[in-house]
Amino acid sequence: MEQLFQWLQNSPLGAAVRMQGDLFPILETIHVISITATVGCIVIMDLRLVGLVWTKRSVGRVIGDALPVVWIGFVIALISGFALFASHAVNYWRDSWFVWKFVFMAMAFVNQLVFHIITGKDLHSWKASFQLPVSAKVAGAVSLALWIAIVACGRMIGFTMDV
Ligand code: HEM
Repeated sequence: MEQLFQWLQNSPLGAAVRMQGDLFPILETIHVISITATVGCIVIMDLRLVGLVWTKRSVGRVIGDALPVVWIGFVIALISGFALFASHAVNYWRDSWFVWKFVFMAMAFVNQLVFHIITGKDLHSWKASFQLPVSAKVAGAVSLALWIAIVACGRMIGFTMDV
């Protein structure tokens, strides 16, 4: 695995992000703006599931409106994050905050998948007044906790790594 990351770090992409003065901060700015859009919309969906915001709107409508922004932001976060990662791939891989960030992200995806396949499989028929099942509220609360952890881990990388 380390060999692959060493290769990535030495690639033209890794070298450019590492050595061209403003490229790293520009990419980090793009990364932060895209995760703000993504995580912001995820938080709205999660809080709606928990029953704390926008309770006059159906869950299906809230998720339907927020999901395109989540995915667009996520694709941009993925591309900018990958370019940042390429600059010091070996060191990032050795940083436990970086690894935890991806462990929590994988858990958030599994949580979301389970919700969509089981609890929320007919969520588009849930009216705004529909009493949400406890499992939906739990899925929202778990997602909220995981995304807070993901952002915290991402921020910790900046403190623990000497880039
Ligand atoms: C939506 C998903 C993601 C979230 C919520 C997230 C969150 C964060 C946060 C909060 C930071 C710190 C930014 C700062 O304080 O300046 C960060 C930095 C970073 N992220 Fe992400 N990230 C995501 C996706 C990714 C992906 C997919 C990758 C890699 C493929 C990645 C790689 C990085 C790298 C390399 C840094 C730079 C750390 C540094 O040296 O300061 N991120 N991320």
